[in-house]
Amino acid sequence: MKLACDDHGDGPVVVLLHGFPLDRSMWAAQLADLADSYRVLVPDLAGFGESAAPAAGVLSIDGMADDVVELLDAKGIAGPVVVGGLSMGGYIALSLAVRHPGRLRGLLLINTRAAADSPEGAAQRLANAGALEAGGPTAPIIDGMKPKLFGASSLQTRPELVPPIEAMMRRVPAATMAGALRGMAARADRTGELPGIAVPTLVIAGTEDRIIPIAEAASFSRRLPYGEFEPIDGAGHLTPIEAPDRVNARIRRFLASLD
Ligand code: MLT
Repeated sequence: MKLACDDHGDGPVVVLLHGFPLDRSMWAAQLADLADSYRVLVPDLAGFGESAAPAAGVLSIDGMADDVVELLDAKGIAGPVVVGGLSMGGYIALSLAVRHPGRLRGLLLINTRAAADSPEGAAQRLANAGALEAGGPTAPIIDGMKPKLFGASSLQTRPELVPPIEAMMRRVPAATMAGALRGMAARADRTGELPGIAVPTLVIAGTEDRIIPIAEAASFSRRLPYGEFEPIDGAGHLTPIEAPDRVNARIRRFLASLD
């Protein structure tokens, strides 16, 4: 699967994978900041943004991880890179870490989790996917997610952040949303594999994340042999957008420690 991708800067490669149902433009602040020292690759995952959707209906997490490896191969990047992801992007980054460990020299897990869905959570996703496949609109899914994406502090102090994210979600085709919902519902529980991840890993979480509780992120970070945990005060599920300066500075510190 050929992915649309921003590719800016020179230096060690850093790949950033967006969340659901977003696209690569969510990383604008990181691209602008990091590309003076790193080669930053920011793809649209299959079916999102400007990337074509695959023929198969399900967008599996492992398949999307394989797409990232294919992207690296297509660019002739054989050596190990840093891969980071937000939420669904984090599930994909973890799949890459477990299934393609030789491609990684560092991992960034941002507002994400290692565990699979609960049975109820998976059932809800499958019901939502079925409704979309039956021709239903994406609006109910977007309306359900919107109040949970930003932290209460950001909603109060920076409400202007919301409309661009809502517009980004509205651009995602229903078939992509359904495929990714099915993919996330079927994803593996990676918790037991965390102790085997042999690269430095930075886990970033927002103290006001309403989708993935910060305690869960803190807890899975402790299972990583080379894990570091960074809470971002006053930010919700979208820390790279809500607190770009603090997130970028922390990522830079992590990347510098790898050099
Ligand atoms: C995301 O931000 O990617 C989603 O919240 C992931 C999910 O629904 O599990």
